Amino acid sequence: MQRIEHIGIAVKNLDQAEAIYEALLGTASYKREEVASENVITSFFKAGQKIELLASTTEDGVIAKFIEKKGEGIHHIAFHVDDIYAEMQRLREAGFTLLQDHPKKGADGKLVCFVHPKGTGGVLVELCTDDPEAIISNP
Ligand code: CO
Repeated sequence: MQRIEHIGIAVKNLDQAEAIYEALLGTASYKREEVASENVITSFFKAGQKIELLASTTEDGVIAKFIEKKGEGIHHIAFHVDDIYAEMQRLREAGFTLLQDHPKKGADGKLVCFVHPKGTGGVLVELCTDDPEAIISNP
């Protein structure tokens, strides 16, 4: 894994959380993006690496369930990897449980795969790499 790409934070109310993080970081969100397959809407900030706020768009989405169990807060840490397929294979062989068999489209032009927190000391880990299709459509 090459570096931390972003930290994902689960929030109940995206407008309120955006205002708080704008004040905290001293910079505005540069992008909002919905990921329909995950029932989330995201908001991104640049702060050295990125901060990704995640709010649920449905009552039973993954972020809604996370907040119900654990409350608002850090949801995942994402690492940039150059070759997501190779890294998924390496982690499988090392005994980690991956939540996807194949990389899927995430927010902000990434292909992503999540690693189950049971093998990582309770932290949901996201692998992400630049989505070649996103680069083509967003030069
Ligand atoms: Co993320």
